[in-house]
Amino acid sequence: MNYFCIAAVFNLVWVAVCGSLLPSNVNARADHGKKDAAGYFAVTFKTTEEKIFGHIAEVGHETSFTDINGGRPILTATKGTRGVRDPFIVTSPTHDRFWIIGTDLNASAINQNFTQARHYGSTSLHIWESSDLVHWSDERLVKVMPDSLQAGMVWAPSAVYDSARDMHAVFWSSKTFPVSDPGHLTNGSLDQIWYSHTRDFVDFSAPKVWASSNVGLIDQEILTTAQPDTFYRFLKDENVTEVYAEKSTTGLFGEWTRLGKAVVDGRREGPATYRDIRRPSRTYLWVDNYNSTIPGYEAYYSDDIDSNVWTSATPSLTPATMRHGAIIPVSKRHFSRLQNQA
Ligand SMILES: *[C@@H]1O[C@H](CO)[C@@H](O)[C@H](O)[C@H]1NC(C)=O
Ligand SMILES: *[C@@H]1O[C@H](CO)[C@@H](O)[C@H](O)[C@H]1NC(C)=O
Ligand SMILES: *[C@@H]1O[C@H](CO)[C@@H](O)[C@H](O)[C@H]1NC(C)=O
Ligand SMILES: *[C@@H]1O[C@H](CO)[C@@H](O)[C@H](O)[C@H]1NC(C)=O
Ligand SMILES: *[C@@H]1O[C@H](CO)[C@@H](O)[C@H](O)[C@H]1NC(C)=O
Repeated sequence: MNYFCIAAVFNLVWVAVCGSLLPSNVNARADHGKKDAAGYFAVTFKTTEEKIFGHIAEVGHETSFTDINGGRPILTATKGTRGVRDPFIVTSPTHDRFWIIGTDLNASAINQNFTQARHYGSTSLHIWESSDLVHWSDERLVKVMPDSLQAGMVWAPSAVYDSARDMHAVFWSSKTFPVSDPGHLTNGSLDQIWYSHTRDFVDFSAPKVWASSNVGLIDQEILTTAQPDTFYRFLKDENVTEVYAEKSTTGLFGEWTRLGKAVVDGRREGPATYRDIRRPSRTYLWVDNYNSTIPGYEAYYSDDIDSNVWTSATPSLTPATMRHGAIIPVSKRHFSRLQNQA
C-alpha cells in the first residue's frame, strides 16, 4: 500500500493531509467523453446577477440548453463578497460526487472596477458539493492563496483529475505583488495561472505558479483525451484579449504548445469545453463575447482540435445571456433529476 502526505499552509496554519493511494485500476478519466451519458449540465453566471444558474441539454441538441429551477439561481454565495462568478463543475473519479467552484467576486458592489478587483480582491474560492447535482452542501469559502504571497485576486478556477497524483489539480489566475509593495500600489505581476492539488476540495496543497508566461493569462480550462498524457487547454491571453488553444502530449505539467491563432478572431473570454456524447471526436467550445452590447456565450465546434479550425454551431447557443461557466456530461439518472427541477 502506498501512502502519501501533503502539507499546505493557509492563514499561517499548517494543514497536513495523508491518505492511501487508490489501486491503479480505478478508471478515473472523469472528464473524458462518457458514451452512456444522457445529456449535458451547464453552470453559468449573469453579469446582472452574480449567482450560479443551471441549464440542461439533451443528447443530439448540444447547443440548445433549457434553464432549470425556473431560471432562478441554483446557488447564491452568502460568504466573502457574496458574489460568485465563473462557476466550474467537476466530477469525482468515481462519478458519485460533484463540486462547483467559483470566483469570489461581487463586481456590482465595486462599480465593475476590475482594476480594483485585481489589486484588492478575494484570495478565496466559493465551493459547494453534491452527490446528485440537485441538493448542494452549504458553501465553503476556501483561501487558496496565503497572505504571504500577496495575491490581489483569485479568478476563474477550474479543476482536472490528475491521475499521476490521484488528486484533482485546481487552477486559477492570480496577480501577485512584491513584499516591498504591501499596499498593492504598483502594477504587480502579470496575471498568471497558479495551481494546487486537492482530494476533497477542503484541504489544498501549497499553491505554485504553473508556468510563468510573458503575457497575462486567465480563464484556463482543460480538456482530457483518451491518451493519458495528452491534454488541451483553452485560455485567455490578456495581451491580445483573445482565447487560445494549447496542447500538451507530455502530461498536465509537461510542455504546452499554442495551436496557431486565437480560436475566434475577436475579443472573447471564459472558454468552456465539452465533447459530443454520441460523437466524442466533436468538441464544443463556448467563448464569452464580453465585447457585445449584451455579453454572453457563443458556441463553436471542431472535429479536429489540432487543426484549430472552429465553426459557429447551429442552432446558435441558447439561452443567450449565459456567462463564463462549465459543462459536464451527466448520466440518465442525474439528467432526469435535473429535468424534474426545470
Ligand atoms: C454584492 O454586494 C452587495 C453590496 O454589498 C450586496 O448587497 C449583494 O448581496 C452582493 N451579492 C450580489 C450577488 O450582488
Ligand atoms: C478603480 O480602482 C482603482 C484601484 O482601487 C482606482 O485607482 C481607480 O480610481 C478606480 N477607478 C474608478 C473609475 O473608480
Ligand atoms: C502599469 O500599468 C499602466 C496601465 O496599464 C501602464 O500604463 C504602466 O506603464 C504600467 N507601469 C509599469 C511600471 O509597468
Ligand atoms: C502582445 O500583442 C502584440 C500584438 O497585439 C504583439 O505584437 C506582442 O508581441 C505581444 N506581446 C507578447 C509579450 O507576446
Ligand atoms: C468590439 O465590438 C465592436 C462593436 O461590435 C467591434 O467593432 C469591434 O471590432 C470589437 N472589438 C474586438 C477587439 O473584438
